[in-house]
Amino acid sequence: MKTFYATTPIYYVNDLPHIGHIYTTVVTDVVTRFRRLAGEETRFLTGTDEHGQNIEKAAATQGITPLQLADRVVERYRELYRTFEIRNDDFIRTTEARHRRGVEALVARIAAAGDFYTAKHEGWYCSSCEAFYTEKELDADKRYPVHGRPTVWESEENVFFRLSKYAAPLLEHYERHPEFVRPESRLAEVVSFVKGGLNDLSVSRSKVQWGIPFPGHPGHVVYVWLDALANYITALGFGSEDDANYRRFWDHAEAERVHFIGKDILRFHTVFWPAFLLSAGLPLPTTVWAHGWWLRDAKKVSKSVGNVVRPDQLVADFGADALRYFLMREMAFGQDASFSDEAFLARYNADLANDLGNTVSRVAALCRQSFGGTPNAVSLDGEVQAAFVEAAAEWRAAMRECQFHRALEAVWKLLTAVNGHVVSREPWKIRKEEGVGSANLHGVLYAAAEGVRLAAVMLSPFVPVTSRKIFETFALPAADPSPADLSWGRLPVSTPMPEAPALFPRADAAAYFKEKDAAMNEPANPAAAPAAPAAPVDDRISIDDFQKIRLRTAKIVAAERVPKSNKLMRVEVDLGDERRQIVAGIASQYEPEALIGRNVVIVANLKPAKLMGVESNGMVLAASVGEAGAPVLLDVPAEVPPGSKVK
Ligand code: MSP
Repeated sequence: MKTFYATTPIYYVNDLPHIGHIYTTVVTDVVTRFRRLAGEETRFLTGTDEHGQNIEKAAATQGITPLQLADRVVERYRELYRTFEIRNDDFIRTTEARHRRGVEALVARIAAAGDFYTAKHEGWYCSSCEAFYTEKELDADKRYPVHGRPTVWESEENVFFRLSKYAAPLLEHYERHPEFVRPESRLAEVVSFVKGGLNDLSVSRSKVQWGIPFPGHPGHVVYVWLDALANYITALGFGSEDDANYRRFWDHAEAERVHFIGKDILRFHTVFWPAFLLSAGLPLPTTVWAHGWWLRDAKKVSKSVGNVVRPDQLVADFGADALRYFLMREMAFGQDASFSDEAFLARYNADLANDLGNTVSRVAALCRQSFGGTPNAVSLDGEVQAAFVEAAAEWRAAMRECQFHRALEAVWKLLTAVNGHVVSREPWKIRKEEGVGSANLHGVLYAAAEGVRLAAVMLSPFVPVTSRKIFETFALPAADPSPADLSWGRLPVSTPMPEAPALFPRADAAAYFKEKDAAMNEPANPAAAPAAPAAPVDDRISIDDFQKIRLRTAKIVAAERVPKSNKLMRVEVDLGDERRQIVAGIASQYEPEALIGRNVVIVANLKPAKLMGVESNGMVLAASVGEAGAPVLLDVPAEVPPGSKVK
C-alpha cells in the first residue's frame, strides 16, 4: 500500500514563529492536501526542537525553565497552525517521553553497529563562551583576552560517531537515488561536500545539561542534532511497542518519506541523518526538498538579523489565506524570494481581489440574477472544459515538482479562460434576447461556474478557506474536496445559490502603509514576548498594566553559582524591610564576589519559581547587550537606599 509521509523541520523554541517557519509549514500542508486530493494516504508531521544550550540560555535569560519556555512557544505554534488551517496529523516535541524512547532505541542500534567510540577533547575551557581555546589564544594568566575571564583546563571524553565511514555509502546512495536531494542544484552541493571528506562527529555533550541523557555515558547528553533528526521516526513510534505508524509510513517499500526543509539545514538532513540511518540499518528518506530563504532588505529573515516578519498583522488585516497564497505564489521553491509589504499588497489586489475575487463574484452574480441559482443543465460548450483539462495537467505536474508558483499560474490560466468565455459569449445579451429559459444561457453560465468550481478545487491545497467559500457560493457543501471533485460536470444543476460577500475586498494600499507600516515590525526580543494569545503587534500597555509590576531597589548581600549551571546565580538581596533569594541568569558575566554590595533593581512581585531546583522570589533586572544578549546589571546610585520603589 503506497503511503506518503511529509515533515517540516522541528522548530527551535528560542524564537517565535515568523514567516520563514510558516512558509515551510504551509508548503508541507499544501503538498499533503494535494496528495490527499490525489487519493493518497498521507501523514503530516511537524513539531518543536526543545533541547540544547541555546534554549537553556534563552530560558535562563527570561528567568524560566526551558520547559516553560517551550510550553509558551508551542502554544503559539499551535495557535498559528489553527489560524493557518495547517492540517498536521501529529506534533512532536523533543521533550516528550516517546521521543526520548525512540532516540534511545536509535542510539542503541548505532552502538550495536560499532559506530560510536569515545575520544578525548581537551583544552582551556571558557565557561562564558562555552568554548575551548588553545594556549596561544590566552594571555599569561590563562584568561581569554576578549573579556578577561579565567579559563580552566578541562578534559572531556566525548562520544564520536564514525561519520567518515559513511562517505562512500552516501555517495553511492546519491548516485543511485538522484531524487534523494531536490531540487537538483542542491544535490550537487551535497555531493561536493561529501567528496571533500567527512570527519567523525562528536555526538555527546557534557557541557550542556538540557538534553536527552546519552545512554551509557552518565553526565553526557545526546548532541542536539542527533536528538532532533530522530523526531521523524520517533513520532511514528519507532522504538516503542506501538510502532504501527512507523511500519505504515516509514518502513516499507512503497512508503514515500519526504522532508521539507530550508537550505540552511541541508547538510544535517542529507549527510548526517542518512548516515545515522545507514548505521542503524533503517530506511532513508525518499527525498529531502530544500527551499530557499525569505529575504527582507536582501538579508535572510531571521531573529539574529533582526528583520523578522511576524504573520499576525497581515493575517488580521487580510486573512491567513492571503498570506498562504502570497508565500506560495511569490517564491519559486528552491530559490530565495523577497518579502515586502508592497509585493504582498500588489499580489493581494491584483491576483486575489481582482482576478480571483472578481471572477467568482461576477459568475455567481450572473447565475443568481438569471436563475436564482445554478444553471439547469451541464454545458456542452467545450471551451472552458478544454481550458480546465490543460490547466489541471499543468497544475498536477507542477505540484509534483513543488513548483507551486507554476501550479498557481495554471489555475490563473483557467480563471482567464472563464473570463474570456463570459466576455465573448456575452450572457447578459443572451438573457435579454432569449430570456432566462434559454438553453444557450444555461450552457454558457454552466461552463463559467463549473470553471470557477474547478479552479476552487485546484486552489484548495493553497487557500482552503477561500475554496470552501467558493463551494458554498455555488451551492456546494463547504468542505474539503474529494479526488472525484476534480472532474468536469460535478456542479449541481438548478440549485438555489446564497448571497455571498466579496472574497477579498480591495485594499487601499496608500492608507494601509500609512497606518500599518510601523506596526508590522516585530517587538525587540521575540523569545521574551508573552506566550499567548497572539503577540500583539501594537505592544503598548496601559499605565495600569505597568503599575502591576512592582520594581524596587535591592542590595546583593550574598551570591553563589547554582551548581551545574553556567548561567544561574543564586543571590540574596536586602530590601530594607526583608531579605529574599533570587536566582538570576547572570553567572556568565559576573563572579559571585563581584556582586556583593551591588545595588540592583528587582521585580518584587513575581510569583516564586524554581530554577534548577532553587527557589527564586523575584527577578534581577539586567540589560541584554550585544548579539549574544550578555546580561549587564543596572547600577543604582549609592544615595538610593535598598527597598526604594522604582516607577
Ligand atoms: N531545530 C532545527 C531543525 C531541526 S530539524 C530535525 C532548526 N530550527 S529553526 O527554528 O531554526 O528552523 C529552521 C527552518 O525554518 C528552516 O530550515 C526553514 O524551514 C525555516 N526558516 C527559518 N527562516 C527562514 C527564512 N528566512 N526563509 C525560509 N525559511 C526559513 O533549524
